Amino acid sequence: MLAIILFNYTFVLTLLSSSTIVSCFFLSSLVKQYGFSWLLVRPFKKFVKRVYSYRFLFDAQGMIQEAYDLAQNGSFVVNAPDVHYHFVTEPHLIKEVDHAPKDVLSLQAAAKIILQPEYSMHRFDWSLERGTDGTPLVRTLRSLLRNDLPNILPKTRLANSAIIDNLVRQSKNQRLHLKPVVRACVARSNARVFFGEEIATNKEFMEAAEDFISKTMLIAETARLLPRGLSHIAARFLESQFSSQRIVYDTLVPIAQQRIDEQELKRSGHAVPEHKDCMQWIMQQSSRLRPWSAEVTTPWTAGRIVHELMALWFGSVHAMGMTIIFAVRDLCIHPEYVDLLRKEFEGPSYEAWERTGYGLPLLDSFLKESARMNPIDSVSVRRKALKPFDLSNGVHVDSGEWLATPLQAMLQDPKIWADPSSFHGLRHVDAATLEKLENAGSLSCPDPTKAALLTDTRGWQTWGTGRTAW
Ligand code: HEM
Repeated sequence: MLAIILFNYTFVLTLLSSSTIVSCFFLSSLVKQYGFSWLLVRPFKKFVKRVYSYRFLFDAQGMIQEAYDLAQNGSFVVNAPDVHYHFVTEPHLIKEVDHAPKDVLSLQAAAKIILQPEYSMHRFDWSLERGTDGTPLVRTLRSLLRNDLPNILPKTRLANSAIIDNLVRQSKNQRLHLKPVVRACVARSNARVFFGEEIATNKEFMEAAEDFISKTMLIAETARLLPRGLSHIAARFLESQFSSQRIVYDTLVPIAQQRIDEQELKRSGHAVPEHKDCMQWIMQQSSRLRPWSAEVTTPWTAGRIVHELMALWFGSVHAMGMTIIFAVRDLCIHPEYVDLLRKEFEGPSYEAWERTGYGLPLLDSFLKESARMNPIDSVSVRRKALKPFDLSNGVHVDSGEWLATPLQAMLQDPKIWADPSSFHGLRHVDAATLEKLENAGSLSCPDPTKAALLTDTRGWQTWGTGRTAW
């Protein structure tokens, strides 16, 4: 027994001393290479960097702006508590990000972290790579929805004017708050276009669909910011408490299933009702031939269609609502534009715009300037690296790190925009239109060479960039 104890004692001592010798050797070689102070300073620096990253939660723009002002070589780094960002500012670097293969840089993977759809969108487990089960949304939004604008726009005008009249009547001459009015109009317009007239007038659904937007943010932020073990429990708890995502999903799935069944009936020669909305178009596109790059080629189920619509609903209603609220607020702050814009509305351009979706250059410029002054996010073009990625300026991005553009800093950069901190509602109007303008008074454009439409995404990351800008 004594021998065993003695043996173990010696064994433990030997182990301890040898491991101490190895660590001492390792430490002394580090000290030799980098110096003694480095050894003490490194963990301290790491700790400070970690603590400092929490500033991102309440002052992301301040952190980005400071780094932007010091940036060289077209890129810089900012650390948020959960994301290591590489920001790119030069057009050629932004192009490299846009052109990266879909299995290397992913918007979907970044959005999955920001929105936490597993908890916030009825357990939607979307793929990290774009288009693995086809891209029915691309043709739906880019062609089918766009082609239907002449049909959509006049109906939207009438529906919105009825909503506003109704809210004014209900308010009984009390002051109306802007946010609920804009939210109601945007939600109603989008619901009609996405799901059809019947759903857009379903009161219980519409209340849940509007509530779903704020609850998505709440659940997603909770899941992101709490420590890993706790975040799952807290997010599942919130998911069970807020019923809006369930109401939206449970209402839409039977309708999507009915559309799938109708399509089958139509194929076998039966007469079926005609639907013109995104749900129908997504369903039809998903049952067509897929691009060669799709891994899954079976038609989408009703649940898959509805999940996609929920994500689309969140993205579009949230962004549109905020953008319009800022624009109306800017019009109140700058009433000198009211007459000009009203005149454009009351002229022949409005009717042409409703027929084609094009025209109204003054309103276009005003909205663009409002979006420039009040971007709804300080960051755009977010991409998570699924594999390591190298930029041509020598910056290496490790797998798990993110790339992005510093949207707000770029929109207010004096090197890009003349007089960037002032609101110029005609800033984006082209020289020919400006010349023809009567009654513009003192209103002008500080740099007509930079004029471009709101939908022109070159040098304008508000909508993202390149292939993924909508
Ligand atoms: C003012 C309103 C809007 C803003 C500011 C906005 C902004 C953005 C941004 C920044 C992105 C990321 C793109 C990238 O990183 O390259 C994006 C993606 C997207 N947006 Fe919007 N958006 C708006 C309205 C809408 C609307 C109304 C729709 C649909 C009708 C929509 C559909 C989409 C889709 C489907 C994507 C994903 C693109 C993809 O994965 O390829 N957005 N949007």
